[in-house]
Amino acid sequence: MDIEPFALERWLAEHEHDAAVNLGDSGVRPLEADRFDTDPGRLGYVIPTNGDPDLRETVADRYDRGADELLFTCGTQEANLLAVLATLDRDSHAVCVTPTYQSLHSLPAAVADVTRVELAPPEWTLDPDAVADAIRPDTELIVLNNPNNPTGKVHSQETVDAVYDFAAGADAYLLSDEVYRPLTSVDERVTPVASMGPHGISTCGLSKGWGLPGLRFGWLAGPEEVVSAAWGWKDYTTISPSAFGQHVGRQAIEREDELLAENRAHVRGNRDLVADFVDEYGLDWHLPAGATGFLTVPDAFESSDAFCRALVGEGVVVAPGEAFGHPGYVRVGFGADRETVIDGLDRTGRVIEERRSP
Ligand SMILES: Cc1ncc(COP(=O)(O)O)c(C=O)c1O
Repeated sequence: MDIEPFALERWLAEHEHDAAVNLGDSGVRPLEADRFDTDPGRLGYVIPTNGDPDLRETVADRYDRGADELLFTCGTQEANLLAVLATLDRDSHAVCVTPTYQSLHSLPAAVADVTRVELAPPEWTLDPDAVADAIRPDTELIVLNNPNNPTGKVHSQETVDAVYDFAAGADAYLLSDEVYRPLTSVDERVTPVASMGPHGISTCGLSKGWGLPGLRFGWLAGPEEVVSAAWGWKDYTTISPSAFGQHVGRQAIEREDELLAENRAHVRGNRDLVADFVDEYGLDWHLPAGATGFLTVPDAFESSDAFCRALVGEGVVVAPGEAFGHPGYVRVGFGADRETVIDGLDRTGRVIEERRSP
């Protein structure tokens, strides 16, 4: 089993630490720990290791599922890994919609054969028929990210319904990473695929919507046979969720109305700043949900990599489009503190102006 290097994580590892301004992150500025009780008592494993049954029931209920149809994990990342391991093997095939967060095609490709369905700019609209065309007799999994990272595109209810029906017709599962869904507005929000029927698997976690990535708390919801197989793999990955993660996660879930409203307002305010920047510099993007926008690279730069390296020289980290297979685009995270976003956009503007009129 070979795994491709995670291009985005490697780029961030190289530049994020020393950056004056980090717009490379795809999350929302993390909340302060002192807003929660952070003492879980004795630091044992979480028992049972699939997570507290009452909390599982609470979260599973959102998917119209029971406690045994939900597994707590160390972040959405582990949930995606376990979903892939639970549904694919070396004789199977997956259809992955790209561009997307790299785990969502590299993990399936490490295990099985993968066909990618590539979305096209400027709207990044998914044609369900393209998914249908990619399905083969050995297809076991279709993978979607909704809303999408990096583009911020929300695949509509109609689109997801159609893709779900194709998955069901092929007796395959539809895995949807919905980690950005809590940041969507009510009119954008699409039903989680785990609520749509026996072929839906949803992954999510507290990193983005709740602004709590350091908790490493997420989940996978879906049919019991998938959740049970995923738990079987989890015995070999992290055994149980983190005790701190579950302790603080429970409070964050109990207070989600307050926390999600606060974070939604925060990212929407910052998105307006980036929208003004896009207009001012004659760039283009699809107005994003979530906390990342995929902007066209200013025409004075030969590639996204060249643009991103020029920005590093000005203390700003963003994510090069090459990490998503789109060298004409750059991913800008706008979930950071408002002052950080303003500072980062000012510096970025200076770099563009200098290049346009040296
Ligand atoms: C689409 C997507 N899924 C999963 C993750 C990882 O999330 P977590 O911190 O919950 O593991 C990210 C992080 O950027 C992401 O963008």
